Amino acid sequence: MNTIRLSNRLLAAAELCGESERVADVGTDHGYVPIWLLKSGRAQYVIASDINPEPLENARRNAELHGTKNGLELILSGGISHLRADSAETIIIAGMGGETIADILSRASWVSDGRHRLILQPMTKQSELIDWLYRNGLFIKRARLAEDNGEIYIVLLAEGGSSAPPSGAARIIPEALMAERTPLLSRYLELHIKRISNALEGMKSSKGKKDPERIAEYERILEELMFMKGGLQCLR
Ligand SMILES: C[S@@+](CC[C@H](N)C(=O)[O-])C[C@H]1O[C@@H](n2cnc3c(N)ncnc32)[C@H](O)[C@@H]1O
Repeated sequence: MNTIRLSNRLLAAAELCGESERVADVGTDHGYVPIWLLKSGRAQYVIASDINPEPLENARRNAELHGTKNGLELILSGGISHLRADSAETIIIAGMGGETIADILSRASWVSDGRHRLILQPMTKQSELIDWLYRNGLFIKRARLAEDNGEIYIVLLAEGGSSAPPSGAARIIPEALMAERTPLLSRYLELHIKRISNALEGMKSSKGKKDPERIAEYERILEELMFMKGGLQCLR
């Protein structure tokens, strides 16, 4: 089989990798991204790992099917304990919660040495991940959105480098994403405006003890997200 069709989410992650001699895909599951990278010549060697044996077996079968067994190393491992700083230049962690991705990254100090490109695709809690990246000397160089079956996903490319502390809203919509101006951005902003508005309404109408600081923080985030949306409309 010569081609592999990736979902839009995985294609966005794979394309953000650019070209790399060696890539590590942590939590590879089916192994589709490593197979795509090897077949397209974007990577020469991929270390694909998973914490569970069944996904690795799927990845092995898929690699065989697509003729990419050479160049693919499959490792049963949780997190990145099997990697050293020189194992790969690009590390992909996709399809996990933002807090899990941050936890995995926090286990190896070399990830923020400025010599690695991190491709991160949080399914939830991206604010926690973006906050972790900032606190660990990594900055978001690029960000993309991708839609599959009506769901919009964010993909981040982070590298070593400092940046100003991200505001509450920039932890949801990073500056790099605003700069890319993808057609999905307006809908994505709208989704988050609705989510923050609902949370705010819940906090304000709660019969329990109110947290004025948290309410003020959410109000600030909402205001900034509305401002971002206004900025997009002005450019149309
Ligand atoms: C939802 S799948 C995502 C697969 C693929 N990366 C994608 O984005 O489509 C998550 C995969 O990560 C694996 N996984 C979960 N926690 C992990 C960890 N701490 N280290 C390595 N793999 C993990 C799971 O076994 C599963 O195969």
